[in-house]
Amino acid sequence: MAQDDLAVAECTRCSELVDSRTRIVNGVGPADAEIILVGEAPGEREDAEGEPFVGRSGEILNDVLRDAGLDRTVVRITNTVRCRPPDNRDPTAEERSNCRPHLDAEIDAVDPSVIVTLGKVPSENLLERSVAVTNEAGTVESVSIGETVRDVMVCVHPAATLYDRSQRGTLEQTIVEAAAIAGNPSGDQTSLGEF
Ligand code: URA
Repeated sequence: MAQDDLAVAECTRCSELVDSRTRIVNGVGPADAEIILVGEAPGEREDAEGEPFVGRSGEILNDVLRDAGLDRTVVRITNTVRCRPPDNRDPTAEERSNCRPHLDAEIDAVDPSVIVTLGKVPSENLLERSVAVTNEAGTVESVSIGETVRDVMVCVHPAATLYDRSQRGTLEQTIVEAAAIAGNPSGDQTSLGEF
């Protein structure tokens, strides 16, 4: 296992994922982002392109971020596990635990104001309890990650909005709240010059 704090260059801890992946998909975004979004695992497009959330879920995420005044480039985006599971199945408990040191090291290095967990897998991974994501979306819980107590905000997964349109508002609202906690990092500063 070779890694700097943000990126894993090599890892063979999960034999099934080593077989199913094309590459390790590391997080993207500023190394000092105020918001870190944690998804589940790379899908087919992410595995092909080597970047989280570049498929259909990524398009939804980008739209919601933009609507909240956040450009994708100002947030850090990563996943619970960095390798694509076979047939896009959920990562197992063992795989989540194998990948956890990578995630903790990334969170530690970025030191964000808020961590947003996109869906059940990352929410349960970081909160270490079962989570009813739809009911709990927008709630913030303080949890120890590594040596530090951090604010984790539960959020629905962007893909959930494809199956249930009513989830879209929940997703949007949660991202707006996360942006506010983080001090609206890409707040519309430029408009000040227009007056
Ligand atoms: N879904 C995720 O949870 N992560 C990705 O990177 C893409 C889709």
